[in-house]
Formats: sequence, C-alpha cells, structure tokens
Amino acid sequence: MVSAQLKGRHFLRVNDWEAADLVTVLDLADRLKARYKQRVEDRLLEGRTLGMIFTKPSTRTRVSFEVGISHLGGTALYLSANDLQLGRGETIRDTASVLSRYLDGIMIRTFHQSDVDELAQHADIPVINGLTDDFHPCQALADVMTIRERFGQLEGVRVAYLGDGNNVCHSLMVACAKLGATFVAATPEGYEAEEEVVGWARAAAEESGGSVELLHDPEVAATDADVLYTDVWTSMGQDEEREQRIRDLQAFRLDGHTLSMASERAVVMHCLPAHYDEEVTEDVLHGERSAAWDQAENRLHAQKALMALVIR
Ligand code: CP
Ligand code: NVA
Repeated sequence: MVSAQLKGRHFLRVNDWEAADLVTVLDLADRLKARYKQRVEDRLLEGRTLGMIFTKPSTRTRVSFEVGISHLGGTALYLSANDLQLGRGETIRDTASVLSRYLDGIMIRTFHQSDVDELAQHADIPVINGLTDDFHPCQALADVMTIRERFGQLEGVRVAYLGDGNNVCHSLMVACAKLGATFVAATPEGYEAEEEVVGWARAAAEESGGSVELLHDPEVAATDADVLYTDVWTSMGQDEEREQRIRDLQAFRLDGHTLSMASERAVVMHCLPAHYDEEVTEDVLHGERSAAWDQAENRLHAQKALMALVIR
C-alpha cells in the first residue's frame, strides 16, 4: 500500500515536493480515510515513535498527529519546547542528533522556518513542519485533499483566499498551483504573500496549467469562486498588532454577502481556529456550504498518509 519512494524525506515546505509526491500522499490519505471509516486497521508504523515539539499552542495539529500515529500502531510524544533543554539553550543541532537516536520522526511547530530547516539538516530522521511563521504545509495537504474530495480534482477549480497573506496562504497557494488550480489571493495592501513564495507558486502553475493571481479587492476574488478560504487575521505571535490588523482587514471578512458572489457549487474553508466576526461569520462557517469541518478531519488522514510514507 505504501511506496518506498518518499521514505526518509523531510516535509518542510510544500515547494520542496513535486506535484506527483503530493498526489502520492493524497491518494494514500483517501485510501486510509475510507478504510478507517470501515474500521479496517492499517498498522503501517507498528512500534514507531514521533516526537512532537511545540513552541506555539495547537488543537488540531497535536491531536491529529497523536491520534494518527496511534492508528498506525505507533506512539507520539508531546514535547513542549519550554520543557526541553532546547528552551534553556541546548542547540538545535544537538537536539536533532539526540532525538534522532530515540525517535523515528519529528514534527515541529515553532516561529522561525530557519529553525525547522536547521533541525532537519542535523536530524537523521524525517522532520515534518507543523507550522512556522512562514508555512503550514500539513494544513495545505488537508486543504487540497478536501478540495479534491469536493470537486474530484484541483484542475480548473477557482480557489479564492481572502485576508492575510500568511503562512496558511503561502502553503495553500503553492499546493494549489502545483495541482493545477486557479488560485487567487485578495489581501489588503501591506498584507500580500511574500514575493518569493508567489514566484514558486507561479513557476509551479506554469507546469501544471494552473494560475496564481494577487488582488486587493475581495469581491473580485470571491466572484465565481469555487472555494472561499480564509484564516485568522492575527496569527500566533502577532497579538500586539491585533487592533491594527482588525482595522486593516475589515473589508476581507467572509460572510453571507461574500458567499453570494461565489459559484453555485462554492464551499467555505478555514484552517481553524476561527475568530467569529473578524475573518468569518459563525453562520457561514457552520452553514451548509462549509467544508471546514471535513477539512479539519482531513488533517488526520493526510498526516497519517504523510507519516506512513516518510517514516522508515
Ligand atoms: N489548523 C491548525 O493548525 O490548528 P491548530 O493550531 O489547532 O493545530
Ligand atoms: N495563521 C495562523 C494559523 C493557525 C493554524 C497562525 O499562524 O496562527
């Protein structure tokens, strides 16, 4: 069921992986999901261990990784960065070397992408990025899995991201572009996605037949969208900017009016946690067009597939 081609690979950013690798994960995720629904066990990681280092809070990432590896026959360890010697100055390199002697994989959620890259550089086991200030690749896997589930494919699907051009936007943009979607992001001026990431996404779209467009008008972006996607306006670590962000992002709220401009088949997505009456309204996120709860569930299935593919 599991091909050996991705064994030992790190998953640090979506752009590091070929479209075909992402499809390998998505195909296995669909299969594991269907089998899990039938209560068929797939103990693909019997006896393996995953260390989960957290410098930021989490509900979905923590629970889906922990439950996911346990479904596969393995065990997860929750490692709060503050309780590790890492929090008292042990180097990332030494931490990577030691953890590689105990564990079969590491998932890390922290601030700087460079710390995750450094951990991966020195680890002998796969490192999975569970969110940094720049990227959220595991979220993007669940996102494209959910879009494929709803529309059968990514090609030709118009995905509109409204709000802050942040970590979630970056990873979603690259994943959609690699898989052939028509991606459009509408952000206020000053909140655009990073140019380098947009460059990766545009290069990927050229190969896949997709497209990437950046706008400042949320209504233009939402018009005829098949997916309306948003994320929090104030990400973890940005709390001091909250008041300013709320002012700047007001016009980008995803509400019933936004939904009325989208295509007839449109779904609403959000990586969660949601902040109601900021980036999204509660009626829309709990309404009949919401795919957000399937999307949250798919974190479990997508990450089970990812772990089964990369952990030896
Ligand atoms: N979407 C997401 O990563 O949620 P958590 O912060 O709860 O893990
Ligand atoms: N952009 C958000 C995503 C949370 C899952 C953050 O970084 O806080």
